[in-house]
Amino acid sequence: MTITSRTNSRLTEIRRLAGAGARARSGRFVVEGEDLVMAADAAGVSALYVLCAQGFAGVARPGCLEVEPSLLASVCALRQGSRVVGVFEQRWSERAGGPLAVALLGVRDPGNVGTVIRAAHAFGASSVALGPGCADPYGPKAVRASMGAIFETALARFATVAELPGRIVALVAGVERALRGPLEGAATLLVGGERDGLPGDVLAACDDVRAIPQIAGDSLNAAMAATVALYEATRMADR
Ligand SMILES: C[S@@+](CC[C@H](N)C(=O)[O-])C[C@H]1O[C@@H](n2cnc3c(N)ncnc32)[C@H](O)[C@@H]1O
Repeated sequence: MTITSRTNSRLTEIRRLAGAGARARSGRFVVEGEDLVMAADAAGVSALYVLCAQGFAGVARPGCLEVEPSLLASVCALRQGSRVVGVFEQRWSERAGGPLAVALLGVRDPGNVGTVIRAAHAFGASSVALGPGCADPYGPKAVRASMGAIFETALARFATVAELPGRIVALVAGVERALRGPLEGAATLLVGGERDGLPGDVLAACDDVRAIPQIAGDSLNAAMAATVALYEATRMADR
């Protein structure tokens, strides 16, 4: 049977989950697009339910509920109307795990948060920790930017750097000491927000402060800095 009513309970839930409050209360999130739903399959993560546009055979999956295509497009938070939409449980680890973690503080742009998750997965980091002031990694833009890595990467929240694993290496543009080569032992790479960077009291609590050397310009984008640092940290490392 095809869903044709705007007031269908699943469509209503998907509309609500566009809001951070509804996501936090329910512990659920929405994944838009067949590529991301297939990434969940590949990671062995089951959806609570999946809706497909009527007649779309791109993802043949048992239990997929058909929806009138324009109705399904209308509940998507991202601009392009997706033909497949899944609802999943959020997964949070109690603490960030090592040996290599990335921690974000005040990174407000969901695209940056998702891109960091993607990079963390690509470079084999054990977890991504989200501190105060960060965008919700389970929001639609962050999920899209993660390109499926949201299903592969352990996520945790932290309030203070004391909760992060290993040596805490704060990344700060322009400081004298450069981040070079693999890090010794367990470490967390700490990245600050787009506008303000990392506050002084947080830097004081870190074990080390390092810069990615630049030829020009004041700083890199937060996600770019995390990606370069992850590459540097894992380069030739036997983790
Ligand atoms: C856009 S930058 C923030 C710039 C901010 N105006 C500041 O003074 O720190 C966002 C974050 O990316 C990281 N970052 C950017 N460029 C970096 C570099 N060259 N070396 C180390 N970290 C960098 C830092 O963690 C920074 O907090």
